Amino acid sequence: MEIKLSSPLDMHLHLREGDMLKTVVPLTADTFAGAVIMPNLVPPVDNLERLRAYRAEILEGVGGHAFEPFMTLFLKNYTEEQLLAAREEIIGIKLYPAGITTNSSGGVASLEAAEQTLALMEKLGIRLMVHGETNAFVMDREADFLPVYERWAQKFPKLQIVMEHITTASAVALLDRYENLHATVTLQHLLITLDDVAGGLLNPHLFCKPIAKRPEDREALAAAALQAHPKLSFGSDSAPHPISKKECCGCAAGVFTAPIALQVLAGFFEEHGKLDNLQTFVSDNAHRIYGVTPPTKTVTLEKTPFTIPAKYGEVVPMWAGREIAWSVKSVA
Ligand code: NCD
Ligand code: ZN
Repeated sequence: MEIKLSSPLDMHLHLREGDMLKTVVPLTADTFAGAVIMPNLVPPVDNLERLRAYRAEILEGVGGHAFEPFMTLFLKNYTEEQLLAAREEIIGIKLYPAGITTNSSGGVASLEAAEQTLALMEKLGIRLMVHGETNAFVMDREADFLPVYERWAQKFPKLQIVMEHITTASAVALLDRYENLHATVTLQHLLITLDDVAGGLLNPHLFCKPIAKRPEDREALAAAALQAHPKLSFGSDSAPHPISKKECCGCAAGVFTAPIALQVLAGFFEEHGKLDNLQTFVSDNAHRIYGVTPPTKTVTLEKTPFTIPAKYGEVVPMWAGREIAWSVKSVA
């Protein structure tokens, strides 16, 4: 059995910098035609000069692959002039509540104070992408943030808002209530619950923010993805950390899935008899929602077993060592 995917897109990706970037960029650029690049570097990507330099570093790492990085800025208070200058070079601006996840200490301390920039973004047609968690109890952080999405969706009706890496059934339900709300969902949140992270022996390689939730949440996310819900895009949130930062006390949050995402998705959609919807979920929805035109790339996946490597460089992928049913046959 085979499936051909046309120009798959990853609408939420962490590439880091330096040696880590060199290791991970080709692992995405091999099979994806484009990806939304997250700005949570140290220091963050919060000005055009840094954004251009970062984009150049990514393109150098891409080598011969046909791959388009869609750049984002890290949200702070920007002037209208700054936003106008950046508009053509970004796919959106990413809002991190301060301290909520990896490298987010420079995020917004006050959501209310951020609204002046959101109003300007609405006026200029710049998309807002949000890490939607509060500092409530860890399992409740996303649910606690949902009223903020609702408030902004109403207050800024022309602002396109992407709820990044949604993990709850309640977030899925919001998609149908506000025309200007969209979402991404990761690979791991379609497949795992908190049980896989911490229900048996602790698995640091499945630890990420937002934390995986309850079975009924996973089921709602899976149902939306499998039907290729028109307001949902695939965003892996593949977030590499060196093994020393994962297998330690004080494990960093982030699951590394870039090199296995399409193969695992093919198996997941096939198991549920929905392989025909995979193209829409990993490509067509994002093309339409974000209005992007990445390079043309055809990825052929085949139902031939593949054993996930123990490591890619210094990074342990999700499900390292596990045999999965699908593999990449060719990329053209
Ligand atoms: C991401 C990272 O490592 O940069 N970690 C994660 O757990 N998802 C940041 C993020 O998207 O929250
Ligand atoms: Zn992320």
